[in-house]
Amino acid sequence: MQVLVAGGGGYIGSTLVPLFLERGHEVTVLDRFYFGNPFGKLPKELASRLHVVRADIRSFDPAILAGKEVVVDVSGISNDPSCELEPDLTKGVNLDGGQRLAKAAREAGVRRYVYSSSCSVYGHGEGLGLVETSNRHPVSLYARAKAGMEDYLFAANKQDPAFEVVALRLATVFGLSPRMRFDLAINVMTKNAYINRRIMVDGGGRQWRPFVHVRDVAEAFHLAARSEAKLVSGEVFNVGSTDNNVQILNLAFRVRDAIPGTEVVHAPTDPDLRDYNVSFEKIEKVLDYRTKVTIDDGIREVLQALKEGKLDPDDRRWYTLKQYLFLREAEKIHAELGLDGHLLS
Ligand SMILES: NC(=O)c1ccc[n+]([C@@H]2O[C@H](COP(=O)([O-])OP(=O)(O)OC[C@H]3O[C@@H](n4cnc5c(N)ncnc54)[C@H](O)[C@@H]3O)[C@@H](O)[C@H]2O)c1
Repeated sequence: MQVLVAGGGGYIGSTLVPLFLERGHEVTVLDRFYFGNPFGKLPKELASRLHVVRADIRSFDPAILAGKEVVVDVSGISNDPSCELEPDLTKGVNLDGGQRLAKAAREAGVRRYVYSSSCSVYGHGEGLGLVETSNRHPVSLYARAKAGMEDYLFAANKQDPAFEVVALRLATVFGLSPRMRFDLAINVMTKNAYINRRIMVDGGGRQWRPFVHVRDVAEAFHLAARSEAKLVSGEVFNVGSTDNNVQILNLAFRVRDAIPGTEVVHAPTDPDLRDYNVSFEKIEKVLDYRTKVTIDDGIREVLQALKEGKLDPDDRRWYTLKQYLFLREAEKIHAELGLDGHLLS
């Protein structure tokens, strides 16, 4: 298949793109590469079918969509605090940019559009085992933008059923990826336990969250991209596994047990309004999807990489908010001191 992956340089994208290449697809990545280009070390055979377009979803040339059968959208500002930084920017990227990309894809005749939504649209969930038809109660700008994109995409699919839209509501992701993220619960707890022997639990710790490994997420996107239209078009799927719904305090205890000598401390914060326990029966039944990586496997994987020095835990790019703050500051400095596009030279 000819696939365009928007945001392919990100945490999910940098695992998903190699998986699509391994399965024989031709992949074009459209990304600003805010966290760097993670594809430098791809084997030649895969790199020969990868095309990289460094551009913005808000302004790219729609000609790059010509001949694409599938678009996967894993782009955007990807967590609550980064979205709160500049609400207008968040709207511009996560809503207006996302809609621009979808509209251009539809106009270019793209058949299948797979969108990375989030279980955070359930927000303050009503009871355990939330299903795709449960009410959405997004409690952050980030999650409201996800809900807004779902509505836009399904309206487009209703108007034009040949534009096959699938929304994947991802659980919180964990595990190693070429663009690493140490701002996701399992990854950050493991890193903090390893380095400081201390885990801070925010929001009381009783809040539920579902988790899913980044390779299992990549598999879910591949399945959504290639499954028959009658199974997926116009559908939402929660992506994860019911066993991986965990209360945050419990998660901290699991990480503590993996790293002896770690203490778990409650941070003096308000209760976390985001509290959702999700059912993954639909994707299991309809697409025969099963996750392969457990939470304990993921903790071990991240721990091992840290022990072997494969990752620099202080690299700013692994912290989404820090990197966006840095880019904002760099932009200011450039505006103040830049001359003909240069700062020093
Ligand atoms: N990681 C999770 O736990 C999780 C859970 C649910 C949903 N999601 C969603 O999945 C998607 C991918 O998440 P991620 O963890 O890989 O995030 P990420 O921040 O690592 O990746 C996002 C990518 O989008 C790119 N990007 C941002 N703005 C852009 C723009 N204007 N034009 C072009 N490219 C742009 C960035 O450079 C980056 O490579 C996001 O939409 C996120 O909201 C993630």
